[in-house]
Amino acid sequence: MEVDLLVCSASQLLTLASHGPKSGSAMSHLGLIQDGAVAVRGGQIVLVGPTAEVRAQVEAKEEFDAFGHVVMPGLVDPHTHLVFAGSRVDEFEMRLRGASYLEIMVGGGGIMSTVRATRKASLGELVEESGRRLDDLLAHGTTTAECKTGYGLSVDDELKMLTAIEELSCARALDVVPTFLGAHAVPEEYKERKDEYVQLVIDEMLPQVKGRARFCDVFCEKGAFDLEETRSVLARAKELGLGLKVHADEFGSLGGAHLAAELGAVSADHLVFTPEEDLKALARAGTMAVLLPGTTFGLGEGQYAPARRMIELGVPLALATDLNPGTCWCGSMPFIIALACRYMRLTPAEAVSASTINAAYAVGLGEKIGSLEPNKMADLIVLDTPDYRDLAYRFGGNLVTRVYKRGHLVWPRDN
Ligand code: NIG
Ligand code: FE
Repeated sequence: MEVDLLVCSASQLLTLASHGPKSGSAMSHLGLIQDGAVAVRGGQIVLVGPTAEVRAQVEAKEEFDAFGHVVMPGLVDPHTHLVFAGSRVDEFEMRLRGASYLEIMVGGGGIMSTVRATRKASLGELVEESGRRLDDLLAHGTTTAECKTGYGLSVDDELKMLTAIEELSCARALDVVPTFLGAHAVPEEYKERKDEYVQLVIDEMLPQVKGRARFCDVFCEKGAFDLEETRSVLARAKELGLGLKVHADEFGSLGGAHLAAELGAVSADHLVFTPEEDLKALARAGTMAVLLPGTTFGLGEGQYAPARRMIELGVPLALATDLNPGTCWCGSMPFIIALACRYMRLTPAEAVSASTINAAYAVGLGEKIGSLEPNKMADLIVLDTPDYRDLAYRFGGNLVTRVYKRGHLVWPRDN
């Protein structure tokens, strides 16, 4: 069979082959093939296996010898706020001096300060600024990223953000999955009229993002939206055919994780303070827990999500950066893996499952990406090490030396 690309002789080829999201002990199985190869045709994977077997069946137009390297699926980042304008480095310094994230937010800073900057920016400026962040994700091995709106908070500005996400997805090498987060914060002009803002989200914004945003998310937290407000936004989104996500239990618990399970959400995210009962509900519903250790680290806090308990209870886990200017300006999934292993006690194998196949399911794309299996998109990365555990063990640099998207080399660009 003639193929476009053969990547062969990988010291370790991680397939992550799976019939669905991984939970429990399945998260430890990476489908590791020593001296492995993968063949690509028309942007899709056609064959995976030991190099000798794959080579015997294909005639390749192009070949890459991955001897001494790990080859694995492109990383998937299932929770980002990477489209925004401006910086909040001043708030970072205030927090170092003792102010809390919620205090800054209630004082009119926090999310609202990024909303002001994002509203001021033109579509072109927003795309340019955010595009540079996307390139950084790509350089660290991410081939698909979710991205939320939520810094517009008016009909026009939320649509501007959505357009920016769509333009970025077309123009850059990564695929970007759009999530509507109109219920991220109550904008200043609605401060005394929160009910009216929730109604605006439900009656005006949701119908306009239908068919464009794949998911609807709500920040369910004290100082943002309570459980009933979250329920009313998500229930309407569900009627309109959007998938559901919830920012739940980042600073306290309002029951957002339980609601996510009840409504059949695709994921519940953060989950630092989720009660045991709600974790069980997530396990029963098969709702993915998207954990964001970079946020806890970014805030300089000490309490991380109870990942080990989640694995014991059978909750499928994914990892994400949460890239945003308030709590975690970090686009590196390998750094998130390093944090997850140290502070949430994931093993390197569990963290890799959580950043590939499970993360793909967390954005509704588990049947297309996230593993190296025939008929999946040929999104793969090459690491400058023969042992995948180095992805967790070594941190602060970048082990990703090559990134292929749909079978095309997209990083480094000048190779
Ligand atoms: O996931 N918690 C809400 N949203 C973001 C923070 C957004 C911001 O501070 O700008 C988060 O941590
Ligand atoms: Fe977030």
